[in-house]
Amino acid sequence: MIYAANFKMNHTRNSTADYMEKLAKRMSEKSGGDRVMVFPPATALDSYTGDFTIGAQNAYPAVSGAYTGETGVLQLEEFGIKTLLIGHSERREIMGESQEAVAEKFQFFCSEGFEIVYCIGEPLEVREQGEEAVTAYLLAQFEGIDTRYKKLTVAYEPIWAIGTGRSATVEEISRTHKMLKSHVKCALLYGGSVKPENIQEIAAVDGVDGVLVGGASLEVESFMALVTAGKV
Ligand code: 13P
Repeated sequence: MIYAANFKMNHTRNSTADYMEKLAKRMSEKSGGDRVMVFPPATALDSYTGDFTIGAQNAYPAVSGAYTGETGVLQLEEFGIKTLLIGHSERREIMGESQEAVAEKFQFFCSEGFEIVYCIGEPLEVREQGEEAVTAYLLAQFEGIDTRYKKLTVAYEPIWAIGTGRSATVEEISRTHKMLKSHVKCALLYGGSVKPENIQEIAAVDGVDGVLVGGASLEVESFMALVTAGKV
């Protein structure tokens, strides 16, 4: 299992350092084959030591240059960061990133050899139209994406389940992951209101190779409850 923590715009540089120090001490509690990833906010990126991977939540597709307010490869490599989250629904919906922009980012960071956690997910109105509509919507989010890229992990996060406390049902996750697995061969994470109370049933679903967690990852205690309660 992969346990990925997405801090979003939470935590400061200080509180992230404190978190990483605590997390590093707890990594012996995870199962041998499991992997932990943490995506802190850009201002808290650093070379933290521990048995986990640090990734960036977003970056601009350039090494460096005149891109005010952005973070490029140069800034990430300073901390040895070679892992990137791309296409999170909050970037698509709130920051207005188009599929074209997301695909451009993907292609650039592939060419730079980055490991990519690529996010997809449908809004509620699409889910309400039924499974065919969901399939079409999700597959369209692979436009311009090389799903055979070796360092790719896909995260399925239904938008209506993010931060709402209402995770998708085991049945919904199972059907959607099965459909996605027939299109992509890489590891597939589920995200959306994953918490200590539902991790066991979600981790047990066939086709779930890990979880991408927002709210429940913000405290080490709660994130570790997920890491230690999931599938062995
Ligand atoms: P929550 O776990 O807070 O629902 O967030 C999920 C998410 O968007 C992780 O990327």
